[in-house]
Amino acid sequence: MIDRNIIEKFRDLPTPFYYYDLDVLNSNLNALKNESVNSGYKIHYAVKANSNPKILKIISSYGFGADCVSWNEIAAAMAAGFNPGEIAFAGVGKTDKDIEAAIRAEIFCFNCESIPEIEVINQLALQHNQTVRIALRINPLIDAYTHKYITTGIEESKFGIQTWELDEVLRRLSEMRNVNLTGMHFHIGSQITRMSVFQSLCTHINELQDWFISRNVDLKVINVGGGLGIDYENPDKSPGFAEYFTLLNDFIDLRSGQELHLEPGRAVIGQCGSLISKVLFIKNGSNTLFAIIDAGMTDLIRPALYQAHHKIENLTSEGNVYRYDVVGPVCESADTFAKFYELPETRRGDIIAIRSVGAYGEVMASRYNMRDLPGSVFSDEI
Ligand code: LLP
Repeated sequence: MIDRNIIEKFRDLPTPFYYYDLDVLNSNLNALKNESVNSGYKIHYAVKANSNPKILKIISSYGFGADCVSWNEIAAAMAAGFNPGEIAFAGVGKTDKDIEAAIRAEIFCFNCESIPEIEVINQLALQHNQTVRIALRINPLIDAYTHKYITTGIEESKFGIQTWELDEVLRRLSEMRNVNLTGMHFHIGSQITRMSVFQSLCTHINELQDWFISRNVDLKVINVGGGLGIDYENPDKSPGFAEYFTLLNDFIDLRSGQELHLEPGRAVIGQCGSLISKVLFIKNGSNTLFAIIDAGMTDLIRPALYQAHHKIENLTSEGNVYRYDVVGPVCESADTFAKFYELPETRRGDIIAIRSVGAYGEVMASRYNMRDLPGSVFSDEI
């Protein structure tokens, strides 16, 4: 719920902007911290979900590590206070420049996705006279039952090493001196709402553990990636960390001395953000009533790209309900946030909130049509 007093303050601010409710963020982080302390599992926040410097600072203050996919993300995480020794570097296409910067920063681990990548990391580490830790990102061939663009662990995915390649990986690793295999890593998709998917992942991990042990390979870290979904229909509902941790605890067979690592992104921050916009015009189409707002797909691309549904609220009207196509100003028909969507009678100047956009909202904004990037406003600043 967006507080009434705050809505009054929104009236004077230039729109569109991301509004972050820090009470919600801190409450999610406390819940996550509790689960992590009770279970002993380590959290690496997935920086790609939201890398706003103030958000990163708050998350790092809880003592979590970070999961990054570029040197720029690693640098942003370090600037926000994350310890480089707790930063994992993932990604299917790491550049030499990024790898070298990460080697120099002495990060925790490179999560590797192919034999050629491991060879390059080994070579670059040798040039820097260092030995670096790597984990193998393995493709477990599990359908995450989520949007196809954010499904990452099936046969045709570009991600991860296939299990049939593992013998060859171990053979090649035995010839490399500057990489040290410390773990296995998985990430099968994002916005996963079926808990059975994570259960299948646990079963697969247990089988792989046996496989590695039978080859005398001791892995210190099991990293299950991110993926825990949020309830977009109920923006005020807290993420289901407790259920998720219980499932991991029940189904993953950790060996003595092993650490379990998690990389949540969306579940940490998704719920905390709303995109605040003003209505520019109400326009009559042949059979449609358009509410044209000043936020567009450049500010929030999820509906256009993944057909994502975000709850939309008119914060300044309580009139009779009509159905609107809520659209932005960008010159594309994909610039539509919702079709035939029930809102109280909406007029020019009304304030609209698009909810649950804290994750993959601001970070995916673009300057298409030479539009300005959206601003950000925090609950402790207004
Ligand atoms: N770890 C790895 C290796 C990842 O690739 C990702 C997300 C995460 C962790 C965090 O996953 P999360 O807990 O946030 O589901 N832009 C899309 C989501 C892309 C997710 C990419 N990888 C969206 O707006 O839905």
